[in-house]
Amino acid sequence: MSRTIQRRQFVKASAALATCSILPSQLRAFAPNARLRTAHVGVGGMGGADLNSVSSHAGVEVAALCDVDSNILNKAAATFPNARTFRDYREMISEMGDTIDACVVSTPDHTHAPAAMTAMNHGKPVYCQKPLTHEVFEARQLRHVAEKKGLVTQMGIQASAGLPYRRATQMIQSGVIGKVSRVLAWSYKNWGYDGPAFTDFDDVPESLDWDLWIGTTAMREYKKGVYHQRSWRKQIDFGTGTLGDMGVHIFDTPYRALALTYPTWVRTTCRQPTGAGHPEKNIVEYEFPGTQYTTDAMRWTWYDGADAPPSTDDLGVPEGVKLPSQGSLFVGEEGTMLLPHSSEPQLFPEDKFKDAARPDLEPRNHYHQWVDACMGEGETSSQFGYAGRLTEALLLGVVANRFPGRKLNWDAENLSVTNLEEANALLKRTPREGFQVAGL
Ligand SMILES: NC(=O)c1ccc[n+]([C@@H]2O[C@H](COP(=O)([O-])OP(=O)(O)OC[C@H]3O[C@@H](n4cnc5c(N)ncnc54)[C@H](O)[C@@H]3O)[C@@H](O)[C@H]2O)c1
Repeated sequence: MSRTIQRRQFVKASAALATCSILPSQLRAFAPNARLRTAHVGVGGMGGADLNSVSSHAGVEVAALCDVDSNILNKAAATFPNARTFRDYREMISEMGDTIDACVVSTPDHTHAPAAMTAMNHGKPVYCQKPLTHEVFEARQLRHVAEKKGLVTQMGIQASAGLPYRRATQMIQSGVIGKVSRVLAWSYKNWGYDGPAFTDFDDVPESLDWDLWIGTTAMREYKKGVYHQRSWRKQIDFGTGTLGDMGVHIFDTPYRALALTYPTWVRTTCRQPTGAGHPEKNIVEYEFPGTQYTTDAMRWTWYDGADAPPSTDDLGVPEGVKLPSQGSLFVGEEGTMLLPHSSEPQLFPEDKFKDAARPDLEPRNHYHQWVDACMGEGETSSQFGYAGRLTEALLLGVVANRFPGRKLNWDAENLSVTNLEEANALLKRTPREGFQVAGL
């Protein structure tokens, strides 16, 4: 809970105690009346959806909006005319000070960590889009700072709140298919670019502050349709390819259900680096140490672009079952679970599992869960303590795509690739002059 909210609730509660002898157990009644004043960084694309979802909570007051594109900012401001508007999130967070309670970050991936860390350095709880960060080091740091300061946080993997993923998690943990030895996960999407680096450029649109959009990364010329909006996903310095984009949703359930931690090694099969985009198709293998839900060591393989979906011969999927275009497969000692992205799990052999228990679960609102937790009620399910570890594992696969076919051995304790020094240089960005943030 933010210190501001705590203080405001305390002040209200003290005043109430002074005027009418209210019982301590009734103090909780004040919490729903306190308003959570939110500040939003990036309000176009998914940022617009985040703004609507967060503000649909009756306890939220949208206090500040920030976007580097004035057209997008003006559109959001028309819906929230009482909110103050900014181009630069650093100015917003420092000028708004104690008049905001919490911050939502919905920018392209390369700005997640700088904006989220700036907010946390000011003691603000944060909702941050996925993947949590662009760099491995940033994922560790956000997690450490959130935990050290005890801030309420949530990463934007809303599918994890959905019934199918939560049901699959419980079923796996109940041991329905026994201990799991392999996971396959895939997405047909292609957030890669195999072409050469760009040599011709365009004028920056008048509405866009290109310097702020580039942020911590090295400055370069603008090119229409390559960066702002959405396409930045394909570019190494800004996005995290299909693995970071869709993988984070699809990895979440197996990672959570199997209580995985850090991989011991990772290896990507893809084309050689071009200096521009992420590869258009990748096969990424991981090995994780065993947990109570897995065999001694757990092998995990990710497929994207034209390499998805994978072949599942001999993995317990009956002939004739068509794999979905995105999803995962758990191979257990007693059977196989197919989990299409955001859909109900299927168990094989079907006959064996026709009476398998499917837990009844209450719906959960992923955004309201964060708002409620900021206001002192309950906890978030994808806080940075979890999201940081998940993102770190994913991003190691993204780093490995710069060294096709090489196995990177991971020393999680020392945040280091032990057998390839060049890979260590890719774990942490050197921020551009003027964009350094304490802690990153
Ligand atoms: N959870 C989901 O299902 C889901 C879906 C789509 C996107 N996303 C995530 O949302 C984020 C945004 O993706 P998108 O597709 O909306 O991208 P986008 O490029 O369409 O939108 C990004 C917005 O942020 C603004 N912006 C860029 N840099 C900024 C800065 N420094 N300060 C303030 N505003 C800035 C842009 O002007 C734009 O309005 C990404 O992290 C993406 O992975 C999540």
